[in-house]
Amino acid sequence: MSTSEKVYKLLDDKRGEYVSGNEIAKALDISRNAVWKAVNRLTEQGFMISARQNAGYSLSRLDDGLSAEFIKNSLDGDIGIYLLKETESTNEFAKDTARKYPGQKAVIIAEKQTAGKGRRGRSFYSPAGKGLYISFLLWPALSADKSLIITSAAAVAAARAIDSFVDAGEKVLIKWVNDLYLNSRKIGGILTEASVNCEDGQTEYIVIGIGINVYKDIPPREISEVYGAVFGETAGGLRNRLACKLISNVLEITDGLEKEYDLTRRRVINECRARSCVLGKEVNVYGFDGLTRGRAVDIDENGVLTVEDKSGRRFALLSGEVSVRP
Ligand code: BTN
Repeated sequence: MSTSEKVYKLLDDKRGEYVSGNEIAKALDISRNAVWKAVNRLTEQGFMISARQNAGYSLSRLDDGLSAEFIKNSLDGDIGIYLLKETESTNEFAKDTARKYPGQKAVIIAEKQTAGKGRRGRSFYSPAGKGLYISFLLWPALSADKSLIITSAAAVAAARAIDSFVDAGEKVLIKWVNDLYLNSRKIGGILTEASVNCEDGQTEYIVIGIGINVYKDIPPREISEVYGAVFGETAGGLRNRLACKLISNVLEITDGLEKEYDLTRRRVINECRARSCVLGKEVNVYGFDGLTRGRAVDIDENGVLTVEDKSGRRFALLSGEVSVRP
């Protein structure tokens, strides 16, 4: 852990209170000048730290800046963390990274996306400081058909992470296959992209992009009816903690798919069923073959959605956009 990270941690433990330079220096066994330098570095990084003569330093209760070091320190293993103030799309950044550094595992996080991408060519609203916009660049030893479960696995990983921060009675639901819902509002989504070797059918790399609306904002009109957020108001340090949980959950579940594919897939599918907000409902599904109408009756062991129409005909859908009919 770097000195500034240690100083951050100490101030974080006493958020809102002033801690003297002397006390920090003693606790970390460093000079007061080193404390001053570390605080300057943190302030440059955007953390809300105020300094008062004869009182010391205080990290604002409202500070919720993301810290690459904080996140990196919570993870095991060799994985690059890129924290960007702003980028067009973390998925695009991840794909560029894949081309430049083949084999490099990375997590790309942005405070803001200027052209965040959603599924089916839509955009993903990504204002600064309000959400988590994260892409994982992974190189799993999985065939292309086994990789199809990755979006569902990421949805489960994200739902579990968010669940651990909300009230016990609340639960994140998954709108097949990639949308996250809380209290009937969309609070996030997943966009998975991959590069596949057509000769051997192996996945070269996978980019899992996850966007979560952490704090409420005023969204563009076209999404305002479904838009929701995990929390109403900004709370100090929450996005860092949620990011750590989300990242470790995604890495754990993708690792599970590589090492114990069948077991992990079964668990993912069971949880997708249990968290589904479409099963048993009348739905419209817009897929590659056009519109399918009927009742969503099952999600099978490969994540395929079965829809049954009025005449009892069944359609197996590999991907698509579901809307629940009233
Ligand atoms: C959807 O709702 O259709 C999927 C949204 C996925 C958004 C995330 S945010 C991080 C990553 N970068 C992007 O440009 N998109 C994904």
